[in-house]
Amino acid sequence: MDSILVTGNGPLNGQIPIAGAKNACLTLMPATLLSEEPLTLTNAPRLSDIRTMTALLQSLGAEVTSLQGGKVLAMSSHDINNHKADYEIVRKMRASILVLGPMLARDGHAVVSLPGGCAIGARPVDLHLKALEALGAELELKEGYVHAKAPGGLKGGTFEFPIVSVGATENALMAATLAKGTTVLKNAAREPEIVDLAQCLRRMGAQIDGEGTSTITIQGVDRLGGATHPVVTDRIELGTYMLAPAFCGGRVELLGGKRSLLEAFCQKLEQTGVTIEETEKGLLVSRAEGVRVQAVDVTTEPFPGFPTDLQAQMMALLCTAEGTSVLEEKIFENRFMHAPELIRMGAKIDVHGGHATVTGVDRLKGAPVMATDLRASVSLILAGLAAEGETVVSRVYHLDRGYERVEEKLSACGAKIERIAST
Ligand code: UD1
Repeated sequence: MDSILVTGNGPLNGQIPIAGAKNACLTLMPATLLSEEPLTLTNAPRLSDIRTMTALLQSLGAEVTSLQGGKVLAMSSHDINNHKADYEIVRKMRASILVLGPMLARDGHAVVSLPGGCAIGARPVDLHLKALEALGAELELKEGYVHAKAPGGLKGGTFEFPIVSVGATENALMAATLAKGTTVLKNAAREPEIVDLAQCLRRMGAQIDGEGTSTITIQGVDRLGGATHPVVTDRIELGTYMLAPAFCGGRVELLGGKRSLLEAFCQKLEQTGVTIEETEKGLLVSRAEGVRVQAVDVTTEPFPGFPTDLQAQMMALLCTAEGTSVLEEKIFENRFMHAPELIRMGAKIDVHGGHATVTGVDRLKGAPVMATDLRASVSLILAGLAAEGETVVSRVYHLDRGYERVEEKLSACGAKIERIAST
């Protein structure tokens, strides 16, 4: 497995282009199963998770062609000739469960393995299943697989999510587009990736209202057609790279960045003393050298709150802030696994239940560390950029799931970062 070697150095200056969103692309790709006609996604990110979803869709009989070096995904699903999503693929990536709703909606049956995914808490799929049951699906769990049937097709219904779930909202939204009658999803997720999915489905002919609010109403149609759709900007990649100049000082322009994707995060970052300016091309983030960041308290919440996917990176920044910060994780109960690794670099962090108290130190020190999940791994890289000496982040396969060309993007701004290929 490859590692990343980071050597702490001075300020970063330059531009970083932000890719299309991994999490949006992973839900837009299964939408191809809803239609016989082609669905083309532009602005797709080039990531191993996208290749995993490609393999999954191909195993179901869809054609997926990667064009322009992976930036365009041309898909078509004339027939679904296999309705079983096998454990061997699904276990690699939790988002695989998103093929369940579309297959069931189009053909009235599907068998999908229960997923694995990042080790950040229990992460069940009960809400996906309950929402589909509200649309008339009959479900049975047998030997690690969900066996789903909808004799006569899905029927519109009302479902109120007991807690906000991005994935369950996406599965139900896709399924409802082909269900007979009207579906109302209450307490639905409001993330930009949901809005992007609804816009794509509408291009395919779906009738959807209210995406981006807590209530989404879907009027089922008989069939969906083809479409071409650009994947929304990756707000998590955006936030991650906005933190780079916050760690190191300097000025970095994030091309394609929009504040509306990350308002809560931007406000917290500004409270630490970092400057964010909107430019014609995106967002310009700067921190004067020698000015220390200030402590802030952070609570993760569903959109529009502070995203859980930026909590690890923010914690790493606060390790060298002036003062004490408290981070509260409200989405995933076990998402502080980066804390012991940051402590190896000299951070002072006390984890107690869903809270972490971080007491800022002057500077972190480079150390060999291990990435435990996708966002944890990038938080260690950011920490290494500003630490004294060398940091080696091992097990970076997590990183490749969610960040394209991370070494290239950061070194273009002056960071000392290189990949060490495993022998
Ligand atoms: C998506 C994102 C992930 C992000 C998360 C929260 C993708 C591919 N992944 O994950 O990067 O961290 O949103 O913003 O888009 N839950 C249940 N039962 C369910 C489903 C979820 O109890 O059936 C719980 C989860 O354990 C968690 C909470 O609901 O505590 C929110 O999870 P959810 O929004 O579903 O996350 P994902 O869609 O898996």
